[in-house]
Amino acid sequence: MKMTRKSLIKLLPLTFAAVVMSAPAAAGDAAAGKEIYDGRGACASCHGATGAGDGVVAAALNPKPTNFVIPAFRLDTDGDSTLGSDADLSNAIKNGTAQYGGNPAMPGRAFSDAEISDLVAYIHTLKQ
Ligand code: HEC
Repeated sequence: MKMTRKSLIKLLPLTFAAVVMSAPAAAGDAAAGKEIYDGRGACASCHGATGAGDGVVAAALNPKPTNFVIPAFRLDTDGDSTLGSDADLSNAIKNGTAQYGGNPAMPGRAFSDAEISDLVAYIHTLKQ
């Protein structure tokens, strides 16, 4: 096919769509994630203020809340044989851990996708 100026112009929107659609999912905002973790998410009450799995509620739980500092991820929520991927963490936060064979004490929560990305980004910063 001969590339005329007109045919090139027709291709532009397609190229643009391909670029937009192949862009990686927007990375979460760790600072916003921390706000949820420490605040209304109450994640710290179980996972601990520093993410060491030692929140005030942790003593009563078995298995213990995951330690995000080491980190010691346990759940392969997307079945791809790796632990601690963004998808693994997102699924656990969204759906709770019981349905992945984990402790039913970790509840699923109605966060937006953006909030979940923010939480995942924050969890990554807890690693030391
Ligand atoms: C009531 C206590 C409790 C609260 C509140 C809680 N968690 Fe958990 N969470 C747990 C426990 C217990 C596990 C471990 C599940 C298992 O391995 O059996 C866990 C596991 C996880 C995992 C899976 C990690 C892995 O091992 O692969 C993620 C991610 C996670 N929690 C994030 C969060 C976030 C983010 C919040 C706040 C929105 C939160 N949790 C609130 C108790 C809690």
